[in-house]
Amino acid sequence: SPASTDEHARADFVVVANRLPVDKEVLDDGTVRWKQSPGGLVTALEPILRENTGAWVGWSGTADSAENPEIDGVIIRAVPLSSQEIAEYYEGFSNATLWPLYHDVIVKPEYHREWWDSYVEVNRRFAEAASEAASEGAIVWVQDYQLQLVPKMLRMLRPDLRIGFFLHIPFPPVELFMQLPWRREIVEGLLGADLIGFHLPGGAQNFLYLARRLAGYSSSKGTVGVRGKFGVVQVGFRTVRVGAFPISIDSADLDAKAKSRTTRKRAGDIRKELGNPKTILLGVDRLDYTKGIDVRLRALSELLAEKRLDPDEIAMIQLATPSRERVDSYKRMRAGIEQLVGNINGMYGTVGHPIVQYLHRPVPRDELISYYYAADVMLVTPLRDGMNLVAKEYVACHSDLRGALVLSEFTGAAAELRSAYIANPYDIEGVKDAIDAAVHHDVDDGRRRMRAMRRQVMTHTVSRWAASFLGALQATTDVTHSGDRG
Ligand code: ADP
Ligand code: F6P
Repeated sequence: SPASTDEHARADFVVVANRLPVDKEVLDDGTVRWKQSPGGLVTALEPILRENTGAWVGWSGTADSAENPEIDGVIIRAVPLSSQEIAEYYEGFSNATLWPLYHDVIVKPEYHREWWDSYVEVNRRFAEAASEAASEGAIVWVQDYQLQLVPKMLRMLRPDLRIGFFLHIPFPPVELFMQLPWRREIVEGLLGADLIGFHLPGGAQNFLYLARRLAGYSSSKGTVGVRGKFGVVQVGFRTVRVGAFPISIDSADLDAKAKSRTTRKRAGDIRKELGNPKTILLGVDRLDYTKGIDVRLRALSELLAEKRLDPDEIAMIQLATPSRERVDSYKRMRAGIEQLVGNINGMYGTVGHPIVQYLHRPVPRDELISYYYAADVMLVTPLRDGMNLVAKEYVACHSDLRGALVLSEFTGAAAELRSAYIANPYDIEGVKDAIDAAVHHDVDDGRRRMRAMRRQVMTHTVSRWAASFLGALQATTDVTHSGDRG
């Protein structure tokens, strides 16, 4: 489209995210391919992007690339990162400091001053790129933990903009956040926005407390609601709103695709290829230590050892997208999981019929939907997860009311999908009981649970999520745009 080749085009709506919606891949022969970027953020924002014409500021996923891929109807502004910045800003501060800190310190966060310096520098570059992409008075929506300084930096460059920020991962308990040597800078960075969104009211309330105790602003103390009843922080003359907006999926699209003849045929073939097991169990994740893939494999292994599951009747599929492969904690976790898979297959599999089928690669969307449809039991067992879209995707694929969802109580999704088989992932016996109950569930009870979960997922779609956030952002009054540079 002509928009993406015009270096000076400006937009009224700008998304700023660490990643572009597409990821650049340079093949061995030097040819370039663009494919969908991994993770829930892009899955969620992709439909929003189709509905609103605007610009997207982000990184291509490879070093030193300023190339703007062509995407219909969107102005793309690639922000180049050097290999050193990838190591320090992305793998370092974003994914070895903030990611574990915000996920309950499941692994120990590392604090390095050089990583912080790189985070500041790269956030500045994103703020400048956003400033160049935004027209006068535009709405700019900054995404996620990699860019928490952008709201303040952008406001200093462009006081005319209306700035929203959404955090796609959990906001941690105050006691953990206080570890961060740059805790005050992060709070101040976020407060550059007019509206700050979290998945859950608890995260919003933690933030309101920190704005008061750490940064010294006056902030509201009452409980925050879901999609309403916002908290406020008074920053000079500006009123910053703080709210909870649980993210979701393009439910109708998945529902329709899961009903298609091709999906149902493919799902039948998958079951045949597995040797027609009575029960197919499924896990779908980025290969990340927060996802508790080890938890479900251990539970499965013990259930087999205790003969609560019959190896002749079950097959488990674990789809795992490679993620952050150069970060040490990810390398260690991968080795551990692959060992567990090998263990289970060695103990309980037979030749031609392993128990766990494990794929370490992304699966095309249509194929993924067939797996969801084929699965009798979905295993979502994170130790901590901001939302977890996989749980919602599974529910959206089951208009047949078949299937059962085992869901960790430490996901954002557990606040909404109350009819899942909920378990504490740290309580292995509890996880085993939940899997056992899901595998052996009564058909009528299963239908009742799935119907209740579908009521939630089919009504609270990702477009409603975006509309509620952007509506609240629009409603922030113009008094807040008086050019205050604080
Ligand atoms: P996160 O954002 O931490 O990766 P979510 O569960 O919120 O976790 O979102 C993950 C997204 O990535 C979902 O849309 C899911 O369908 C997709 N996904 C995860 N694993 C795979 C896989 N192995 N193949 C294809 N897509 C995947
Ligand atoms: O949804 C959380 C998130 O961290 C996104 O910000 C990110 O794009 C996605 O997961 C995948 O991770 P990464 O971009 O590091 O591959």
